[in-house]
Amino acid sequence: MNNNSENKDPLLMEHEADGIQELDNLLPRWWVWSFYLTTIFAIGYMLYYHVLMAGDLQIAAYQKEQKIGDAIKGAAMAKFESTLTGLEPIQDQTVLAQGRQTFGNMCAPCHRADGGGLVGPNLCDDYWIHGSNYVDSLKTIWNGVPEKGMVTWKGLLKPKEVQAVASYIYTLRGTKPPGPKPPENQQQPDKPNAYE
Ligand code: HEC
Repeated sequence: MNNNSENKDPLLMEHEADGIQELDNLLPRWWVWSFYLTTIFAIGYMLYYHVLMAGDLQIAAYQKEQKIGDAIKGAAMAKFESTLTGLEPIQDQTVLAQGRQTFGNMCAPCHRADGGGLVGPNLCDDYWIHGSNYVDSLKTIWNGVPEKGMVTWKGLLKPKEVQAVASYIYTLRGTKPPGPKPPENQQQPDKPNAYE
């Protein structure tokens, strides 16, 4: 330690610990300015959000976004419903593969993986409760038959997914899986002679 007071750095502070001394430097300008700026920002932020209540807090912002999302979803669902009647089964293999996957995940527990029927009716025969054509299937899947145990898929599946799965089950018509569920309701072939 240098005890010669003439050579002593004027910034050197008096205390010392284990030979370590400290210089009393000024804080860097950038640091001081960022401190002022963050303080000003914090005051502004508090006034804007918590005193004047001018901006949305997280929950309000979330609810607003949710409302916008619901409106978009509602419009897409309404559009799908309005075009329902004119739709034809999709034959694209990729779409059918997606439909098959959806069927395996969502529908097979009740309709069996091969469509032969379990809790839900056989989807391969010509006996239909809610109509045999493609649009009938779309409507049944979209709206469900809640009182009979058929899930309302609207809101759970997107219109595209419903079209894909309805197109897939359309390809099951006329296939003859072993040990099917006995026919329900009247015979209404939509694909004539496909099963003979
Ligand atoms: C929880 C069981 C359950 C699930 C899951 C289910 N269904 Fe159903 N489904 C039923 C029942 C039960 C019926 C018969 C409704 C009735 O008796 O009116 C039915 C009826 C149907 C019908 C009309 C059949 C007819 O004879 O008119 C179609 C088409 C159908 N389901 C397709 C699907 C598709 C596609 C899925 C998957 C996205 C699916 N179902 C998932 C139980 C289910």
